Amino acid sequence: MQRYRLEGQDGGLHRLVMREEAVLQPGPHQILMRVRATSLNRRDTMILNGTYPLTPRAGIVPLSDGAGEVMAVGDGVTRFAVGDRVTGSYFAHWIDGRIHAGLIDQLGCTLDGMLAEYAVLDEQWAVRLPDHLDWREAATVTCAGVTAWNAVTGPGIPKPGQWVLVIGSGGVSLFALQFAKLLGCRVVAVTSRGEKGDRFRALGADLVISNSDTPEWGAIVREQTGGIDLVIETGGPTTFAQSLIASTLYGHIVLLTLQDAKGRSIEMPAALYQRSLATISRLFVGSRTNLEAMLSAVSQHRLRPVIDKVFAFSEAGDAYRYFQQGDVFGKVIIDGA
Ligand SMILES: NC(=O)c1ccc[n+]([C@@H]2O[C@H](COP(=O)([O-])OP(=O)(O)OC[C@H]3O[C@@H](n4cnc5c(N)ncnc54)[C@H](OP(=O)(O)O)[C@@H]3O)[C@@H](O)[C@H]2O)c1
Repeated sequence: MQRYRLEGQDGGLHRLVMREEAVLQPGPHQILMRVRATSLNRRDTMILNGTYPLTPRAGIVPLSDGAGEVMAVGDGVTRFAVGDRVTGSYFAHWIDGRIHAGLIDQLGCTLDGMLAEYAVLDEQWAVRLPDHLDWREAATVTCAGVTAWNAVTGPGIPKPGQWVLVIGSGGVSLFALQFAKLLGCRVVAVTSRGEKGDRFRALGADLVISNSDTPEWGAIVREQTGGIDLVIETGGPTTFAQSLIASTLYGHIVLLTLQDAKGRSIEMPAALYQRSLATISRLFVGSRTNLEAMLSAVSQHRLRPVIDKVFAFSEAGDAYRYFQQGDVFGKVIIDGA
C-alpha cells in the first residue's frame, strides 16, 4: 500500500515522500480503514514547515482529516463493523471533558494520520459519518469542522438574530458561517478578496466586507450591525484590533490563532479593549464528543461542507502547494489512492 511520510528535519515539500509499504493489520480494538479522501488544514503546512508548536514524530504519516470505510476489525472491536463509514478524531485520546497534557496526541502529528491508502485507528479514535456526505465532504470535518463548531456553540453561544463575524475563506471560517446560520444568527464575512462576495452570500452571509478595500473595517461593521456578538477570530495579528472595534459591548471573541505566518503575535490595545470589554476565549479543535455533536447537527440539517479543489493522491505535493498560496474558498481535498 502507498503512504506518504514526512521525512527529514528541515521544512519544505521535499519532506513529503511516498512509500510503498506492507498493508497494515488491525490489532486488538483497532480498525483498518481504507482512506477514500483527506483534506488539508493550516496546521498541516505548519507541521510540514517545522513551525507547529507540537513536535511531530519522525517519519509521521501526515494529515488529521480523512474519511473512509472499515475494511477489517481487530479482536474485541465493538464500536464498528466492516463497511462502516468513519473518520478520525483530531486529539485521538480526548473523548470528552477538558483537554490536558495527557491527551495531546494528534493524528498526522504524533500519531500516524490519513495521507495513506489505509490507516489503522484504535476504535476509540474514530466516529461514524453521516450518510449524506460523500467521501470528500466527509474528509473535512475532523479539524476545521470541530473547531468551528466549538467556536460557534461554545461558552459565548450566540442567540438567533445576533451577529457573528467570520474572517477569510478557509475551512474554519466557512464552517463557522454555516453553523451560525443553523442557529439563526446573522453573519458578517470579512475577506481580503471582495470578488468572493457572491459565494459568501450564497452560503448565507448577510454582510460581506473586503478588508483590502476597507482596512479599517471594524468601525463600519460595528456601525452597520450595532456590534458583533461573536467573532470567530482566524486572522490573528492582522485582524485582531479590527475585531475588537467591531465587537459589541461585552461581546465574545474566540481567538483561534495568536501568530501569523511571519511569527508576529497579536497585541491587545488597552484603549480598544476598554471600549468592547469583550470576553476573549481560546480553544483547541475539540474532543470526540464535540465531533459527534457536530456530526449530529450536520446530519440533521444535511449540511454540506464547502470544497474548493480536489487533487489526486499522487498529486499530494501540488495540493500542499496550492493550499499554501492561500487563495482558497473552502477545503482542499486529496482523493484516496
Ligand atoms: N485553535 C484551533 O483549534 C484552530 C483550529 C483550526 C484552525 N486554526 C487556525 O485558524 C486559522 C484558519 O484556518 P483555516 O484552515 O480555516 O484557514 P486558512 O487556510 O488558514 O485560511 C485561508 C484564508 O485566510 C485568508 N487569508 C488572508 N491572508 C492570508 C494569508 N496571508 N495566507 C493564507 N490565507 C490568508 C484567505 O481568505 P480571504 O481570501 O477570504 O481573505 C484564505 O482563503 C489558521 O490560522 C489556523 O491555524 C486554529
